[in-house]
Amino acid sequence: MDSFEIRKKFLDFFSERGHTIVPSSSLIPDDPSVLLTTAGMQQFKKYFTGELDAMKDFGSQKIVSIQKCFRTSDIEEVGDKTHLTFFEMLGNFSFDDYFKKEAIKYAWELITEILNISTERITVSIFKGDKQTPHDGESYKIWHEIGLPENKIITGNRTDNFWGPTGDEGPCGPTTEIYIDNIEVWNLVFNEYYKEKSGKFAKVDNPGVDTGMGLERLAAILQGADDVFETDIFHPLTSKINDLTPGLDQRIIRILADHLRACIFLAGNEVLPSNKESGYILRRLLRRILAYKIKYDIHADIFPESIKVIKDKFGKIYPELKETEKILKILEDERLKFQETVGRGIKEIDKYSAITGKEAFYLYETFGLPFELIMELSPAKIIKNLKKEDFDKEFEKHQKISRAGAEKKFGGHGLTLDTGELKAGSEKEVKKAIQLHTATHLLHWALREVLGKEVQQMGSDINPERTRFDFSFDRKMTPEEIKKVEDLVNQKIKENLPVYSKEIPKEEAEKTGALHFFKQKYPDIVRVYFIGSEASGGIISSEFCAGPHVNYTSQIRGVKILKEESVGAGIRRIRAKIE
Ligand code: ALA
Repeated sequence: MDSFEIRKKFLDFFSERGHTIVPSSSLIPDDPSVLLTTAGMQQFKKYFTGELDAMKDFGSQKIVSIQKCFRTSDIEEVGDKTHLTFFEMLGNFSFDDYFKKEAIKYAWELITEILNISTERITVSIFKGDKQTPHDGESYKIWHEIGLPENKIITGNRTDNFWGPTGDEGPCGPTTEIYIDNIEVWNLVFNEYYKEKSGKFAKVDNPGVDTGMGLERLAAILQGADDVFETDIFHPLTSKINDLTPGLDQRIIRILADHLRACIFLAGNEVLPSNKESGYILRRLLRRILAYKIKYDIHADIFPESIKVIKDKFGKIYPELKETEKILKILEDERLKFQETVGRGIKEIDKYSAITGKEAFYLYETFGLPFELIMELSPAKIIKNLKKEDFDKEFEKHQKISRAGAEKKFGGHGLTLDTGELKAGSEKEVKKAIQLHTATHLLHWALREVLGKEVQQMGSDINPERTRFDFSFDRKMTPEEIKKVEDLVNQKIKENLPVYSKEIPKEEAEKTGALHFFKQKYPDIVRVYFIGSEASGGIISSEFCAGPHVNYTSQIRGVKILKEESVGAGIRRIRAKIE
């Protein structure tokens, strides 16, 4: 029975029993309590609480759906035979219509009669009860009446047999789970409680049913495979990966297959790689694929070929997958960003015979290679002494050194801080001046983005009240341009980019294109301040500068441009403050 037939049998079964078929919602949920859709019930939460009326919206209190889901909880396990990030969930729902008896009977009938699984292969579990909510004797009785012997009905605790709520509050209740050959396949949730913010479980007047069954696991069982990657769902993709790059280890093929499929579905739902929320999840998966691509020399066409395979396999059900060019562009843009610097870092790993916290921090600082990827990509024997705590210690040490560098300048003589460019009297003022200093670098970057790269810094002067920035440009800026510059700066503040510095030989620093005053004399070793890293989506600003700066852009809060004026031929001046 292939996956198309399974989906159809599931939908038909419930539709013949009065359920309205509702299509999958997007992977980006309306529900702010989760970053991505993790369950079929998410789009129906308001029907469980009674805020919305299913009869009005769907013509029935009974629903069936197949929902695209994504769970990060199992990310570390992906690579074995059963764990996935993206999966499809088959579910039937009742909003104040049928309850435990019908739900259990439907599930039993579908599994034993429609899917022809023999009853000996089935075990179930029910909630044993605890101080907060009681034992689910009702479900036990129903299973017993159906004919399951006592030893096939096991009891489980809250972790295993109580579901929800998603977020701090919401519908939730005991579950009964169905196992086939000891593999958990179907979870039936009986939403008879509402967990309040206070932590109290209140019994509801309109109990509902929410069920979820993983399509991939069910397909594995029905297709006699003990590995979800051997089902018809994954086979076209795993064999494509193998054709493109023969000889890869099974674990790597599984990780690639899971992550590629997940990334293609995420991009299909217009998630873009970023450093925040769902964008970060996509970035993390993509970067793992890209790191493998470099390490195992995976074929250059892996993205376009995988997109084609996924579209062929799922495009009929999920029309967004037909937008292959859009999806490819999202994936490719991230590849270009990643390959440049992080790719060099991966090659750098080969030079080491041992990596400890110190080397790992160097790889992170210089190449933006995150700790997890260093762990992932290095041969086991060279990272046997690598510990996360040591890496963190190096990180802290580095922060202290940058801070100490700044403090040296705060010393004595009336002004707490006087670098020539920055002046501040008290610790409180110093904080503001430092924020404005980083804001000035962002402003410089944004001006060049909006007005063109011919813009050059002519001077700046910063006190706790405002920054004053002079630059070369030959006309008045329009209000739109000013607004655009201000918006760009504030956007980068929100993105919370890292700000850090490195000491580099002057010639090398000049070659990187770091901004500086061309006429000024600099020492042989210069300090360059960077905003953004490859790991955070790219360095946007690099300037010769002695600091001090904030560590992360979000420490600035927000910037407002106060004035733009002329201060001589071809020179403009901007004043800006922190909001
Ligand atoms: N909402 C339940 C689950 O995700 C069915 O397991």
